[in-house]
Amino acid sequence: MHVLITGGTGFIGSALIPQLLSRGDSVTVLTRQTRSNQKNLCYVNELDHVDQPVDAVINLAGASLAAKRWSASYKAEMVESRVNFTERLVQWMGRQAQIPKVLISGSAIGFYGCSLEQRFTEDFPGGAGFAATLCQAWESAAHVVESESTRLVLLRLGVVFDRDGGALQEMIRSFRLGVGSWVGRGDQWLSWIHRADVVGIILMALDNKAVSGVLNAVAPNPVTHREFCDTLARQKPVVIKLGVPGAVLRLLLGEMADELLLQGQYVDPQALSAVGYNFKFPSLESALTDVVSR
Ligand SMILES: NC(=O)c1ccc[n+]([C@@H]2O[C@H](COP(=O)([O-])OP(=O)(O)OC[C@H]3O[C@@H](n4cnc5c(N)ncnc54)[C@H](OP(=O)(O)O)[C@@H]3O)[C@@H](O)[C@H]2O)c1
Repeated sequence: MHVLITGGTGFIGSALIPQLLSRGDSVTVLTRQTRSNQKNLCYVNELDHVDQPVDAVINLAGASLAAKRWSASYKAEMVESRVNFTERLVQWMGRQAQIPKVLISGSAIGFYGCSLEQRFTEDFPGGAGFAATLCQAWESAAHVVESESTRLVLLRLGVVFDRDGGALQEMIRSFRLGVGSWVGRGDQWLSWIHRADVVGIILMALDNKAVSGVLNAVAPNPVTHREFCDTLARQKPVVIKLGVPGAVLRLLLGEMADELLLQGQYVDPQALSAVGYNFKFPSLESALTDVVSR
């Protein structure tokens, strides 16, 4: 299969590509970077430079939500790199002589907004806030591609954990100094997933034609931030545990602090259970054992 990946140089794409190559797929990565081609792996800077028919598209591109304060100009960049870009991507797909059979497009559990009490399954409507509105518009842009001949899978990703990147690097920082920490009250939900499971879910969605629509890509056992701290502290013992006050984070990070850190959402991977996806890392203990001990 020839797979086109946008944002394939990122945290998820860099784990996915070796798996695709090892099972005999060929991969084209759309990137803003200059990279050298390898066997069965080609990099292009423009969609119109893709010169072989594409069977499947995996859409992971987007300016990181956690990289910078959400200024008006950075918000515009987050929207442009996801919503406007996805609009251009599906238009390009529609122009191909051989239209790709599946689009697996990124989204995030921020789609639902935040709640302490609600358990979000895929059928919940979108919530409020910048991240929620962004995810809703990102998904709407992808929906345009859906047809008899093209299957659409929307991955509402939780916080992805692995060793060499992602949110865990920030979350583990204080533990290296012997301080276990959580942010705010610590009772907000953290719906997480190991990167190996994100890759497993994408491969399953590529291969299994019965899979379509929204998938909550989260492990079946969300935790609170305080539970996260306690679980990690069993792997990386600390001298003291403490909460970083929300006011400090709001001062440092602005609006992003509330939407990404001080509030959260309990998300249930109901659709993945229905298709029988078998998680490699269903519990936080198992995921952190793998990530911290490797
Ligand atoms: N990792 C998570 O915990 C998580 C959670 C929820 C949702 N997601 C979403 O899932 C997708 C993949 O996640 P990831 O962790 O692999 O992301 P990532 O490491 O940040 O990589 C995303 C890729 O998008 C491209 N990109 C970055 N800024 C861009 C911009 N301004 N304009 C156009 N392209 C840009 C980059 O590719 P080039 O430099 O090659 O162009 C980058 O490698 C992202 O859209 C992310 O928001 C991730």
